[in-house]
Parts: sequence; C-alpha cells; structure tokens
Amino acid sequence: MSSMSNSQVKGNNPILEKQQTFVSDLIAKMTLEEKIGQMSQQSSSEGSLPEHLKEAIRSGLTGSIINQVNLEIINEMQRIAVEESRLKIPLLMGRDVIHGFKTIFPIPLGQASSWSEELVSSAARISALEASSCGINWTFAPMMDIGRDPRWGRIAETLGEDPYLCAVLAASMIKGFQGEQLATPGNIAACAKHFVGYGASESGRDYASVNIPENELRNVHLTPFKVAVEAGVATVMASFSDINGVPASGNEWLMKQVLRKEIGFNDLLVSDFDAIRQLTVHGFTANDKEAAYQSSNAGIDMEMASTTYKEHLKDLIDEGKIKLCEIDRMVSRIIKLKVKLGLFEDPYTNPTSFPSLVNQSNLLAAKELALQSCVLLKNYDEALPLNKSKLNSIAVIGPLANDGYEQLGTWVFDGEEKHSVTCLQAIKEFVGDTVKINYCKTLENTRSNNQDQFTQAIETAASSDCVLMFLGEESILSGEAHCRSNIDLPGSQQQLIHAIAETGKKIILVVMAGRPLTLGNILLKVDALLYAWHPGTMGGPAITDLLFGVKSPSGKLPVSFPRNVGQIPLYYSQKNGGRPASEETFVSIDAIKSRAKQTSFGMTSTHLDTHFSPQFHFGFGLSYNQFSYKNIRLDRDEIKLGEVLIITAELINLGKYDCEEVAQLYIRDLVGNVTRPVKELKGFQRVSLPAGTCKKISFKLSSNDLAFYDRNMTFRAESGEFYVWIGGSSETKLKARFKIL
Ligand code: GLC
Repeated sequence: MSSMSNSQVKGNNPILEKQQTFVSDLIAKMTLEEKIGQMSQQSSSEGSLPEHLKEAIRSGLTGSIINQVNLEIINEMQRIAVEESRLKIPLLMGRDVIHGFKTIFPIPLGQASSWSEELVSSAARISALEASSCGINWTFAPMMDIGRDPRWGRIAETLGEDPYLCAVLAASMIKGFQGEQLATPGNIAACAKHFVGYGASESGRDYASVNIPENELRNVHLTPFKVAVEAGVATVMASFSDINGVPASGNEWLMKQVLRKEIGFNDLLVSDFDAIRQLTVHGFTANDKEAAYQSSNAGIDMEMASTTYKEHLKDLIDEGKIKLCEIDRMVSRIIKLKVKLGLFEDPYTNPTSFPSLVNQSNLLAAKELALQSCVLLKNYDEALPLNKSKLNSIAVIGPLANDGYEQLGTWVFDGEEKHSVTCLQAIKEFVGDTVKINYCKTLENTRSNNQDQFTQAIETAASSDCVLMFLGEESILSGEAHCRSNIDLPGSQQQLIHAIAETGKKIILVVMAGRPLTLGNILLKVDALLYAWHPGTMGGPAITDLLFGVKSPSGKLPVSFPRNVGQIPLYYSQKNGGRPASEETFVSIDAIKSRAKQTSFGMTSTHLDTHFSPQFHFGFGLSYNQFSYKNIRLDRDEIKLGEVLIITAELINLGKYDCEEVAQLYIRDLVGNVTRPVKELKGFQRVSLPAGTCKKISFKLSSNDLAFYDRNMTFRAESGEFYVWIGGSSETKLKARFKIL
C-alpha cells in the first residue's frame, strides 16, 4: 500500500481512502483481545526475548514494544508478528531518542541555545537514521514542555522558557525525525510530549502537582503542541501530571476537547510509562479497572508499560461502560500509524541499507550543533579567544575536563562514552607540542567535597600561563526525577574556583550542566564563562574551537538564569503587574535604614535581598565581536486585522571576526482583554556577518501572530497599541510603536 506525505494524510485523498478501507477491514477481522493487544505497549529488556513475550506477540496481545534495541531481536519480534500471528500486524518499536541515538548531540536545552532550526532538524534527522538502522520506528521526542524552573531536572530536555522558540524548534525536530513521508526508510514517528503543562510541576519537583489557570495553559503551554500538530507530529504523549486536580492520563477535557477537538489532533495518543496505573496512586481512581476506564474514556489510545487495559478493558466493554466503537476508533489510530510507517509492506530492518552509526558526517554535525549551542556569558578584557602562539602552558582543571560519559548529558540510553572526544583530548590535539598542558582533575566528580587535590590544582595553575576550568553537573544531576532545591555548583567546585583565583591567573570557566546554575560571586572570580550545557559526543572539539577562536560563540540563552533559587519562577515574558519593579524603586536590603517605617522605599515587585533582574537574560549571548542594531523601521505604523507589518533594522558587525548573530524580534501588546507579557518573542533569524559589515534585517509580523486567548478563552488578535523591538537579546532597547486598527 502506498503511503503519503505527512501533510497529505490530512487532506481528502484516494490514498487516504484506500488506507482507511484497509484499516477498517482489518479491524473488522480483529477479536476484542487482539484490539486490546494493539492498545498495549510492553516494556522489553534490552537483549532478551523471553518466551512469554514471543507468545504475547504471536497471539496478538502486544502491538508495540518499548526499549528493545537489539536488531536481531527486533527483527525476530517483527517476524513472529507478521508470520506467526493470526492477522500479521507488525509492531511499533519505541525508544527515547531524545538528543541522539549513537551520535549524541547537545541536550535539547543546549540545542535550543543555537536558535538554529536547520541544525536542530538535521540532528533529529541523523538521530532518526541511526535509530532506524537498529529497528526503532518511534521516538518519544520532542519534549515541548515549557521550562521555567531550573530546579526541575527535566528542564534539560526542554527547548526553554519561551512558547514561540519552543514551538519553532520542536517543529524542526519533528520534520527531522519524520521527514516528508513516514514510510521512507530512516524516518521515524515523533511524539509531542508531555501533554500538557508538566514543566510547571510545583517547586520544580518532578511528578508534583501542576496548577495552571486555563488562560495561561492556553496562552503559554499549549502553543508548542498546536504548532507540533500543524507540523504533522505522528503521536502525542499524555503527561504524568495532576493538572488542576485532574491527572492528564484521565483528563477527558484536555484530551478530547482541547487536543482532539480544538487542536485537531486525530492520531495516536499514548500514555507515559505506567502513568495509567498511577491514576490510583494519584487518588484519582480507586483501582486499576477504574484507571483503565478513565484513561480509555479520555481517549488515551495506547497504554505504555502498565497493563490495566489488558486486564480490564474487556470487562468494561462487557459491562457497557466503554463502547466497542470507541475501542475501534482508538485501535484504528494505532493501525493507521503502522500503515503510514510502511510496516505492513516491510517491518524488517536491514542495517546495511543505512549509513554506519557514528560516521564522520554525523560527528561533524554533532560538533557544529555543539559549537552553536555554547553560550558565552562573560568575556572580561577579551580573555577569550586564547592565542596558542602566545602561550607556553595551560592548566586544565576540573572533573569535567576529560569525562566522555558526563559530557553526553541526561537521557542517553544508546550513546557510548567511547565515541566522545573530551575537552582535554581536543585541547591537546589542537595545541600539539607548542603548548604544555598541565592537567589536574582535582575532584573525583562534581559532587565531591574531598579537597585533597586542591594543593596540586593550585600548583598546576600557578605554574601555567592561564587556567581552563571545566566544572558543572554530572549528567545524573539533571533529567527525569533528578531535581535540585539548590542549583549552585555542587560539591566543592565553588571553593576550587576561589582557591585557583588566589593564584591571580586568568581563569576561563567552562560549565557543563543540564540547567541554568546560580553562579553567584564566582562570576567575579573568572575572566570568561562559556556555558556548554551537556554538549554531547563532540563537546571537546566544539568547545576547543571556541576557546581558541577558530569560531566565535554565537549561542543565545533559551532560558533566564536566576541570581538565586529564590527568584524562581523567573522568565522574561512576565506580566507587568500593578507595581512593577524598577531601578528607581529597588532598594537593596543593605541600604535599609534602622527602624525603617512600614511604607518606606519602593513598594514594588522586588525581593529585598536580590536585584529583580535575572543573572543572565533570555536571548543573551556574547560573541568575540560587538554588534550594533540601529534604525528600526516599520513599513507603516498601523495595520488592519489580518494585515502584515514589515519591520527592518540595520545590524552591524563592529568586530574583527566573521561570525553569526541571532537577531530577535519582540513585541508588547500594551492593553489586552487579559494582561499581556511585557515582552514576547515573535521572530528570530541567525545572520552571518563578515567582520566590519552591516546587513539590513527584516521581519514580517501579521496580526495573527499577535492573537491570544482572551478572558472568554476566545483566540483572537485585538486592536490597540503595540511596541516592537529588534535586538540581540530580550533586553534590547531598539524599539518602535505600531497600531492595529
Ligand atoms: C518516562 C518519561 C517519558 C519517556 C517514557 C519512556 O518516564 O516521562 O518522557 O518517553 O517514560 O521512557
């Protein structure tokens, strides 16, 4: 059966009709047990195929497997399914291919720092090819939860705090994973997750309650999912979360009204791992049977890992609680995906028909994305780039300088340390025998408080011309269920920086982490700070090229950095409030006079003990050049609803390096039917700019881009006054004004 492009699947089309006939005919032949089997995804331990699993596949009681990556076993599973089962239905093979399969790219939060649709998409493409060559046909990515709480371990997997940036990059990933046609070998089904609002887990603790007013749920958290569905994402995963008292896995309003009816998603909706059984743990259901009822009633098509559907759906149907036609609708969405993937034509994988894993072009792509994902946050007195011809020796200090495992980051199941090139290895390779590299790991890991090696580290620094420090978080300190209430550098790393600073040597700090860290006064102790996130397999060569000026850093922050954890949640697109913070009204706790009166100083929205601004702003990132933005112009200063505005500005590279800059477009709706953020990202473009040149950049903005859900939950743009800014971060001051009539 011929398959269609993802976009074709949407329209009325003879191929679609033929597919639908095939699906309906097949369902008509299925027994109820076989239908429920298709709705059950079974977890399989890597490398084993026990008899009971063979039998489950043979009898059609399992239609999907998660976490098997042994190709021989996968092909055998498919063989049993299509040759020994009654209806010969092939299997979906799911795996978390979050930021690479064998070639590991920067963590998603790092990829988002590149603001590069092209590189993010190509990383997903390569990941899909590598995963396909091992028999995987479904990944549970991209994760598009909005990440505004760095305490939450899974912020590492997000594409940052902004709905627009997250939506654009998630769509790029989906296109990379799925290609034009799912049936083309090397394409795999993507999964928009976790629907919805998981990033707002209380106190940044994983799996904690989520309470989001509907207006914010719609205006912030739903945005990426709407765009993902428009981009043709093949599947969606429901979140673990208890959202406003109704867990997603049993939330009929969210799944049927919002996702299916309003957003128009009519494909496979899968639960998270064991999440349906957990409805009873939530206290939302009394037992597994009720959990099975609530989830199937909400329209969760497939149960991942737990077995409430297998054990109870038949009874629920016999009791008339669930209609058989509902089951048929859910099963048809599962079968339809298998048809689109071409599995009925050929479910087998021949690895020789794919490029080799971790090949040179994959590694080069991983290096390029890592290069563009690093964010230069400080560069005092042009401490960077280093000039190797002017150096005799360099101290390389810290637990992350030479750790090919930790640099891969969280959610790496199939990547291997042996493919990593570490910073120490890359630096030695780069300088050759022209510069002496003095290496001292100093700490066993990033959590270590054993300072026995400090003396050696200090001596290493003192005997070198400059110091490169590689500090941060081991990968286990971020990712699922790995949340931190204190997001300082862990262990004795801060003390190590202070100790090395005593030597008076120039210090370049490279941080590898899965979240923004609160860096506090260590920022005063280092001359330069390069934030590399967890940069993946090729982190070493990428970071080395940046440190020595082969390329200039060009990354921009996709998430705000708090000064301290007490500021969280902290994000640029906040509401103004009635008493907004300002420099004029901010009074530091140190400036308060004794016996100050109750109504003294600012009475505005600040903390007494911390400045109200972030440590580093959303969209911020330095370069080895300085850029100037000027002459913002609008093609007119008012438009009607439905019309498009053209905004231009001049971007000048004042420096001596050819490099790239991410120009950003922000708006503010000055008066809204509900209050609107003080700034909202509505466009960005990566601009290549030779040294000393100027380029005119242009953005289009339609009134539809300014639509939002109003107090009646109606999605619409309003007439009124707007500001528009263009610049190199959310702090840009280059502003113009326009009206929608
Ligand atoms: C995990 C995660 C989800 C992942 C799934 C399968 O618990 O929440 O993102 O895709 O289970 O591993």
